[in-house]
Amino acid sequence: MAPPLLLRALSLLFLLPLVVDGSVLGRKAAAGGRVGREIESYAVIFDAGSTGSRVHVFRFDENMDLLYLGDDIELFVQVKPGLSSYADDPQKAANSLIPLLEEAEGVVPEELQPTTPVRLGATAGLRNLGEEKSEEILQAVRDLFQNNSLFEYKSEWITVLEGYQEGSYLWVAMNYLLGNLGNRYSDTVGVVDLGGGSVQMAYALSEQAAANAPNISIGGDPYVTKQLLNETNYYLYAYSYLNYGLLAARAGILEAADEPYNYCMLGGYTGSYEYNGEVYNASASPSGSSYSKCRTETIKVLKINETCAYEDCTFGGVWSGGGGDGQKNLYVASFFYDRAAQVGFIDSEKPNALVTPSDFEEATKMACKLSLEEANVTYPNVAEEDLPYICMDLVYEYTLLVDGFGLEPSQEIILVTKVEYGDSYVGAAWPLGSAIEVVSSQSTQSLAMKNLRRLWLQQ
Ligand SMILES: *[C@@H]1O[C@H](CO)[C@@H](O)[C@H](O)[C@H]1NC(C)=O
Ligand SMILES: *[C@@H]1O[C@H](CO)[C@@H](O)[C@H](O)[C@H]1NC(C)=O
Ligand SMILES: *[C@@H]1O[C@H](CO)[C@@H](O)[C@H](O)[C@H]1NC(C)=O
Ligand SMILES: *[C@@H]1O[C@H](CO)[C@@H](O)[C@H](O)[C@H]1NC(C)=O
Ligand SMILES: *[C@@H]1O[C@H](CO)[C@@H](O)[C@H](O)[C@H]1NC(C)=O
Ligand SMILES: *[C@@H]1O[C@H](CO)[C@@H](O)[C@H](O)[C@H]1NC(C)=O
Repeated sequence: MAPPLLLRALSLLFLLPLVVDGSVLGRKAAAGGRVGREIESYAVIFDAGSTGSRVHVFRFDENMDLLYLGDDIELFVQVKPGLSSYADDPQKAANSLIPLLEEAEGVVPEELQPTTPVRLGATAGLRNLGEEKSEEILQAVRDLFQNNSLFEYKSEWITVLEGYQEGSYLWVAMNYLLGNLGNRYSDTVGVVDLGGGSVQMAYALSEQAAANAPNISIGGDPYVTKQLLNETNYYLYAYSYLNYGLLAARAGILEAADEPYNYCMLGGYTGSYEYNGEVYNASASPSGSSYSKCRTETIKVLKINETCAYEDCTFGGVWSGGGGDGQKNLYVASFFYDRAAQVGFIDSEKPNALVTPSDFEEATKMACKLSLEEANVTYPNVAEEDLPYICMDLVYEYTLLVDGFGLEPSQEIILVTKVEYGDSYVGAAWPLGSAIEVVSSQSTQSLAMKNLRRLWLQQ
């Protein structure tokens, strides 16, 4: 028997994420200890990467500006290893997310949880596992979210991201944080994101360039999508190069070596490298690492000269997007920032730094002269397991920028890990873009959602 109408109406009211002048219907005082906020909206985004799983929680006001969650502007928590490490145990994979789910539940007020979307985007790690295994893991995650949490859940929100989506979300996040959404395309910034498994490039094109773009990439994704953001149309070029992330590239470089040794490995190292279930001999040459020999190997792996059907290409036969003003300011994130900070050519206390590819080359030449033992003293901030690969990683990053993406060695780029936002800093990563999309598209029939600005309209 259905509950009496009044009861149903009351319970519906209780679920409304409506906060009016600090008093919540059915509960007093606004979430997070803040009063005076009229409407707020949360999003919980899981980033299931190849090296670990992370959860981000964001809180938006009615203008789609970010609000504090307690002391911080976002909740960010991670666990290692990533879902793909549990390839043969989907339940264990899903369970690895429980601590993250609990953290998220701890910051979203309970009465808002049923209207707070929870999304999971898996990237290169699961892409590499293949359709069947990754789908089993995603299904276990869907069951977990559906059975064990109050968050608003849809099965299509738990997916392997398409490569271009990862790039587009980061582009949206970066330009949102910089206050660029609503500007002309030429006043937005381009992004490069070097993950473990893949590397992404995204930037806005002119309408004319977009009209002449090839429509479908080799992987079957669109190269260019039209996006309506803050009432402005953008033609967004985005591409993700699978297996060209930093950790994947190590495997490629080790595999490609013609000689019994790899000249990218620091002298004194003997051992092997494991990536994606394969084991590679990673022992150094008796003469140690060599910058020039390592460069030659790395250029081969990048497939610079792969036949390409277009006039402007990067590597591996991929269309470059043609360049243009949307790419003149490049924000370069993830492992580019990390390695530069770890070897100390940028200040790791600062969230971003203006550099050129030549700075990478200089640091690289220095690193490749060292033995493992010397590097251990020179680079106290490089993790022990990364140390033997420090010449290889830096050579790869320099080669990717200059030979892969075709940047001039003297072009200024901004290495970024966080972006200043109000009196706070927000991590430069794709989940914020995903949060903006899902909150903007929410169809929840609540008053709050109707009043929320739709920053990102799908067409
Ligand atoms: C979770 O829900 C799914 C379907 O919604 C069901 O098949 C599964 O048995 C449930 N798991 C648990 C542990 O309750
Ligand atoms: C949208 O654009 C307007 C100006 O056109 C700007 O004031 C506002 O901050 C932008 N909103 C966001 C969330 O970027
Ligand atoms: C792709 O572009 C070509 C040439 O512009 C056009 O003829 C073709 O119809 C397009 N294909 C799709 C699927 O849009
Ligand atoms: C790895 O390579 C080194 C150098 O060529 C060689 O001495 C060693 O036996 C190799 N190890 C394995 C496990 O193949
Ligand atoms: C690629 O082609 C250019 C021009 O033909 C040539 O100079 C270069 O050596 C080639 N690079 C590789 C890695 O084959
Ligand atoms: C690096 O130095 C630390 C002590 O400072 C030592 O414990 C560690 O084994 C060294 N690692 C290598 C690879 O030499």
